[in-house]
Amino acid sequence: MLNPGLDLLTDYPFTRLRALLDHEPMPAGVTPINLSIGEPQHAMPGFVAEALTRDLSSLSRYPTQNGSPDFRAACAGWLQRRYHLPDGLLDAEKQIVALNGTREGLFMVAQVVIPQKKGPKGEKPIVLMPNPFYQAYVGAAAACGAEPYFVPALPENGFMPDFAGLPREILQRTALLYLCTPANPQGTVASLDYMARLIELAREHDFVIAFDECYAEIYTDTPPPGGLEAAMKLAGSKATKDALKNVLVFHSLSKRSSAPGLRSGFCAGDPDITQTFIKLRNYGCAGLMMPVVEASTALWNDEAHVEANRDLYRQKFDMAQNVLGNRFGFYRPPGGFYLWLDVGDPEAAALKLWREAGIRTLPGNYLTRPENGGEQAGKSYLRIALVADLETTKVALQRIGNVLGA
Ligand SMILES: Cc1ncc(COP(=O)(O)O)c(C=O)c1O
Repeated sequence: MLNPGLDLLTDYPFTRLRALLDHEPMPAGVTPINLSIGEPQHAMPGFVAEALTRDLSSLSRYPTQNGSPDFRAACAGWLQRRYHLPDGLLDAEKQIVALNGTREGLFMVAQVVIPQKKGPKGEKPIVLMPNPFYQAYVGAAAACGAEPYFVPALPENGFMPDFAGLPREILQRTALLYLCTPANPQGTVASLDYMARLIELAREHDFVIAFDECYAEIYTDTPPPGGLEAAMKLAGSKATKDALKNVLVFHSLSKRSSAPGLRSGFCAGDPDITQTFIKLRNYGCAGLMMPVVEASTALWNDEAHVEANRDLYRQKFDMAQNVLGNRFGFYRPPGGFYLWLDVGDPEAAALKLWREAGIRTLPGNYLTRPENGGEQAGKSYLRIALVADLETTKVALQRIGNVLGA
């Protein structure tokens, strides 16, 4: 018997991209460049390899389920420094959940919070998410028998979904809300006020917010604020028992440290939820490999490589600005590493870039669903991930500028 919720899962964006491009020829003698996927290609700091290989004997033992005390302390310490959190707010032993990358955590957290929630007439629970959205959010809702509810992030709202404007009957059924800030794909950064308002809404209607902050360390000028910081704004900066109620944040080393293959992230926040989450993971999940825990601890404790990484993105956005100017609605996003270009017909543009320049990009409509006006949110946009090294990015942007024309 198949889970009927899974009927909601349509083709994954990259399956659709393969169907669009894989049978199309690209120019002979040109090296293909893949800018379709958010997979950073910058070098990792040298100490990662050293930490990974220091004690390979740990591979002959099962790893601990939730990282190590040093790992948890490194995550909590980083959060405290980065988001100016008061002492005593985070108990690293209870409020840090080690994850094999944030994707699996974003997916699995739904099982912690969804099933008990119903609408006033017994309707299915709802999972709110922006449109365009990250695929794990829909997968999580579908697997738990919830209804994903897409809220468009349109240019006229500065790409911020208007969750607070939703009808009351929708909010009453909501069990979980995902918000990615800085946003993939538009790079929009939610303000502290916006996040604080969302937290108030979540408490009023008794749902949980999963702030997906995996792009938090890729920004141009100002560090994007975070969900825990917004909760503290509401709590008056005091580390009270309920200060983080209904709030979870997700952080990753994939973008911050250019280590997507390490599969390392964590979740932190509301102690009631994190402790249940840790308990559930004991039943169903593999702990992070111990060498990964060691390398991750070193990465969360180091900022120099993060600053260098950020600087590479700044240089790449400078290049993009030079090549694209104000064509295709180019703007420099406050966060993240994507170009979100208004090209008119994104599938035609992706095909042209592949056929004429060997550049792989992702049509924005593959990241959206049509519900609630969502087709407007992606239908004319092309997503270009500026993940390659500087030299490759330079070549790619020149090819893009030439092929897409005016
Ligand atoms: C919006 C968003 N959230 C979460 C992730 C997951 O990242 P990871 O599982 O590598 O931590 C990604 C990866 O691309 C993403 O774009």
